[in-house]
Amino acid sequence: MHYAKNPSSLEGSATLLYTARAASMKAAGADIISLTAGQPDFKTPRAAIQAAKDAMDQGKTLYTPSMGIAELRQAVAQRWSGVHEQEFSVENTMVSCGAKHSIANMLEVVVSPGDKVLLPKPYWVSYPQMVRRLGGISVYPDSGEMLITGDDIRKAHASGVKGMIFNSPCNPSGLVNTAEMIADVAAAVRETGIWVISDDIYEDLYYGHGRVPHILNADPGLRDQVALITGVSKTYAMTGWRIGFAIANPDWIRIAGRIQAHSTSNPCSISQYAALAVVKGEAEAEREKMYGAFKRRRDLICGLLEKVPGIEFKRPQGAFYVYPRIVTDKPINTEEFCIALLEKGGLGTIPGSAFGNEGYIRLSFAASDDDIAEAVKRLKSFLERGDFK
Ligand SMILES: Cc1ncc(COP(=O)(O)O)c(C=O)c1O
Repeated sequence: MHYAKNPSSLEGSATLLYTARAASMKAAGADIISLTAGQPDFKTPRAAIQAAKDAMDQGKTLYTPSMGIAELRQAVAQRWSGVHEQEFSVENTMVSCGAKHSIANMLEVVVSPGDKVLLPKPYWVSYPQMVRRLGGISVYPDSGEMLITGDDIRKAHASGVKGMIFNSPCNPSGLVNTAEMIADVAAAVRETGIWVISDDIYEDLYYGHGRVPHILNADPGLRDQVALITGVSKTYAMTGWRIGFAIANPDWIRIAGRIQAHSTSNPCSISQYAALAVVKGEAEAEREKMYGAFKRRRDLICGLLEKVPGIEFKRPQGAFYVYPRIVTDKPINTEEFCIALLEKGGLGTIPGSAFGNEGYIRLSFAASDDDIAEAVKRLKSFLERGDFK
C-alpha cells in the first residue's frame, strides 16, 4: 500500500501521549498525580449547557452555513472588535471545530510546499506537524531566547521565511511578550511583510494588568497580514465542544471557508449555540471564578517550586503551565526523565522536547491545590533521589 508522503511522516501528539500514559497507569491502580492536562479542570458554564439544550429542543440540529451561524460570527466580530479596538465584521470571522482546526485552516491558505514558516521556541506541539502536513518547512529562531524578538524575525525573513505562528501567552512556558517586546515584534512584521497567525487561545488567562499585549494593538495597521485565532476552549472550559474562531482579512477567511466547506462542512450546530451564549457574555461570573482559581494556583505552584533545588523557571504570566528547566551538570534526555518521573516518582508531566526544548518539563496547574502540592513534593524527592541519572 502506498501512502502519501506528508501525512505518513507526521508525528503523534506528545502531550496526548503522555497524558494518556499517566491516565492509563492511574486507571490500572497506580498512585499517579498527573500535571499533564492541557485543559481546565472545571465544568462548562450553565449558560452554555442551557443554550445547547435549547438548540436541541428547537431542532437546531441540522447543517449550518459552513463558516458558522451568522449570529455567532457576528458576536465574535463584535466581541473582538472591542478587544482590539478595531472594526471587525462578519466577513472577518469564521467558526471552526476548535482553535486547532482554525489554525490548520488558516495555515493551509498561506503555506505552499517548500515555504518556510517561523516558529518561536518553545512552540505548541502541533505547529511543526501542521506545517509539515502542508509540505512547509518549520524554522526556529537561533537566539535561544524563550520569547522571540524583532531581530529574530528579520533574520528569518532574510533566509526566506514567509510567515510566523505566534503564541502569547505561550503553551508550554506560560510566558508573555511584554508591550515593548510586542512593539518590537510588530515593527519587524511591518518591515518584513510576513504573515502572522497569532494564536490567542490563552488571551483571557493573562495574570498581568489589563489585556495581554497584542500585535494588533501595537500596530493596528497590520490587520491585513495578521490572522487572530481564539475560541472558547480554555476561557470557558469548553474543550470538548470543539469550537474555535479565526479573525482575519476577508480574502484569507473566504479561502479558509472553502477549505472547511470541503472538509468538515460546518462545526457542530449545537456547540455553536453553546459558544454563542458565552461569547455574548452570559457566563462572565463563571469565567471570572475560573480565572481567579488559575491565578491563585499559579501563585501556589510557583511558591512551592521556588523551594525545589535542581530546577529553575520563570514565573508564568498567562495560561496554566509552568516550564522549569532541570539543572544538571550533564545534559539529560527529557523524555526518559519524564518517563522515570512518572514510573518511579508517580508524577505525570510533559517533556520539553515536545515543544522544542531539551532539559525542560511542562507542569500544568489545571489541577486541585492538593494535587499541586503533592506533585511538587514528588518532583522534589525524585530530584533528590537522582532517579533519572
Ligand atoms: C497554544 C494552543 N493553541 C491552540 C489550542 C487548541 O485549542 P482547541 O481545543 O480550541 O482546538 C491549544 C490547546 O491545547 C493550545 O494549547
